[in-house]
Amino acid sequence: MSGRGDDNHKVLDVRGLCTRFFTSAGVARAVDEVALSLQRGKTLGLVGESGCGKSVTALSIMRLVPDPPGRITSGEILLDGQDLASLSEKRMREIRGREVAMIFQEPMTSLNPVFTIGNQLIEAIRVHEDLSKSQARRLALEMLERVGIPNPAERLSNYPHQLSGGQQQRVMIAMAISLNPRLLIADEPTTALDVTVQAQILKLLDELRREFSIGILFITHDMAVIAQTADDVAVMYAGRIVETADVFSLFKAPRHPYTRLLFESIPTEKARGSRLRTIKGTVPPLTHLPRGCNFQKRCPLAIERCIEEDPTLREIAGGHLSACHRAEEVEELMR
Ligand SMILES: Nc1ncnc2c1ncn2[C@@H]1O[C@H](COP(=O)(O)OP(=O)(O)OP(=O)(O)O)[C@@H](O)[C@H]1O
Ligand SMILES: [Mg+2]
Repeated sequence: MSGRGDDNHKVLDVRGLCTRFFTSAGVARAVDEVALSLQRGKTLGLVGESGCGKSVTALSIMRLVPDPPGRITSGEILLDGQDLASLSEKRMREIRGREVAMIFQEPMTSLNPVFTIGNQLIEAIRVHEDLSKSQARRLALEMLERVGIPNPAERLSNYPHQLSGGQQQRVMIAMAISLNPRLLIADEPTTALDVTVQAQILKLLDELRREFSIGILFITHDMAVIAQTADDVAVMYAGRIVETADVFSLFKAPRHPYTRLLFESIPTEKARGSRLRTIKGTVPPLTHLPRGCNFQKRCPLAIERCIEEDPTLREIAGGHLSACHRAEEVEELMR
């Protein structure tokens, strides 16, 4: 597509995305009017507590929401201007893996335990690329080497369980980028790894992003990981984006009480290893969201208006958006 050479080019532009789960307990608004924008070669961090809709957002973009009970009910998912939400399943299968790839927290959920690494990597390449077996093998070796797997030729004949968690994740990354996708969705890819390995994997993803100009949608519940990886950040709460800004503005002056409280859950150097502070209370059930603001019951700044009126996402400063009636006061009142 012509726009790919342009550095300001949006690789992903999600607008008004709604995904619902139709359950016996009611309709869960797992993704509600979500808008996301990611530039080519940049990382957009999507952060929020467990159950706020991060993975369902990712699955919606991939068109992999389990149906039933789930369904995308409205919105556009523009990948280089092409709306994935309106594509046929056949066309979507060509795009998955080839143009948009995804890596998960547990590599073993995507790696098949009964086939060798080589078998899976070579097959994944050949599904999309018209290559001979030996050409695909060469590409697989090259990719394993690039992601830092020692003795790649030997590794091809290994089974997944013969690799460490960090190496399995490297294999998943090799598989994901071997077809040179324009968008990589990484859903908590380092959460299951220890801190040292986590840092190595984050560094690797960052190098690959630059080298191949891949846009990365990086999903995490960890603000410290956001600080290390993201150019821009979208904060999600109860199915909605409640704040979005570039990473510096967000850390310098958060404009939503929820974001401000998420910062307190970052372990400091001194407190590392001790229990993290978590935000009091729980996310309301997505089948029964309150009138007014979804965060009202847990919010230290909540006033009458927050119970009555649902706050919309609005611009507070250049490119910095917040869905809080008291966005302008957060900095002063929550020091
Ligand atoms: N298969 C399903 N059936 C019914 N509801 C679902 C299903 N999958 C997800 N949901 C709903 O969507 C909500 C969001 O789930 P999601 O997996 O996106 O959370 P998350 O932000 O990724 O959390 P975590 O940090 O724990 O991975 C859930 O709280 C649940 O209400
Ligand atoms: Mg998740």
